[in-house]
Amino acid sequence: MEFRKTHILSFIALLSCISVAHSWGVDGHFITCKLAQPRLSKAAANAVSELLGDNDLASLCSWADHVKFRYHWSSPLHYIDTPDNLCTYQYNRDCKDEDGIQDRCVAGGINNYTNQLLSYGSGNSASQYNLTETLLFLSHFIGDIHQVWDDSIIETAEERFYNSNVDELINTLHKNISTVWANQAKAWEACSKTACPDIYASEGIKVACDWAYKGVSEGSVLEDDYFLSRYPVINMRLAQGGVRLAATLNRIFG
Ligand SMILES: *[C@@H]1O[C@H](CO)[C@@H](O)[C@H](O)[C@H]1NC(C)=O
Ligand SMILES: *[C@@H]1O[C@H](CO)[C@@H](O)[C@H](O)[C@H]1NC(C)=O
Ligand SMILES: *[C@@H]1O[C@H](CO)[C@@H](O)[C@H](O)[C@H]1NC(C)=O
Repeated sequence: MEFRKTHILSFIALLSCISVAHSWGVDGHFITCKLAQPRLSKAAANAVSELLGDNDLASLCSWADHVKFRYHWSSPLHYIDTPDNLCTYQYNRDCKDEDGIQDRCVAGGINNYTNQLLSYGSGNSASQYNLTETLLFLSHFIGDIHQVWDDSIIETAEERFYNSNVDELINTLHKNISTVWANQAKAWEACSKTACPDIYASEGIKVACDWAYKGVSEGSVLEDDYFLSRYPVINMRLAQGGVRLAATLNRIFG
């Protein structure tokens, strides 16, 4: 009982920050990068450590959020706006910024930074780009594209509940990826190109329509049931993000 009470109170606190948070937040990104790290091939792990030096990918996984203001041009690359109520995603229709400039959305960002990273180790003395930043953008955007769009309630709740225990959540997700999700994880990795952001975006909008918005009208008070029934979905999106980040880096670095 006591637990429920605190639980409900923390929702009310959460509700006041809905309009601020629009992404996984630091924990969500930390988790996806952390899940990816042990799945990297030797070549990918070597490239990552060459690009990051002594730094750990997971601890830099929110770097792209921190530079949003300094690199103002990068802010539309964190999300995709799809038309309300359609519950579909189409790259050509949806991947643009507020000024209508094509490719300026998270799927375009993933394609862009994947292509840049492919120049790693190509022998051309210096890439035109800072590939350390490229890696950090790509790792972050693969997390962003797995967030349940426009529903920061879920992400914030996820942070609240697991904040003190992120490592335990990571361990459980990691274990589940190799056991209960082992078959699905193979399908999550599949991609006929180097990066497959359109698949992740289409799934994401479907998840948002099926789960995030269903039964929720604006201004309604959300019950515990809402959160509890959606946790498995959030956990799966985190796991998918981690598995796919590793798979993408493995395809890039060979
Ligand atoms: C591609 O990356 C470059 C370098 O960071 C950036 O200037 C450009 O805006 C990016 N474009 C997209 C669509 O991500
Ligand atoms: C590349 O970007 C990182 C992160 O912003 C920065 O610390 C580093 O100095 C940059 N490297 C070069 C050669 O500019
Ligand atoms: C891991 O899998 C078990 C068994 O299906 C499930 O009960 C649990 O909620 C899962 N945990 C996470 C964090 O996905």
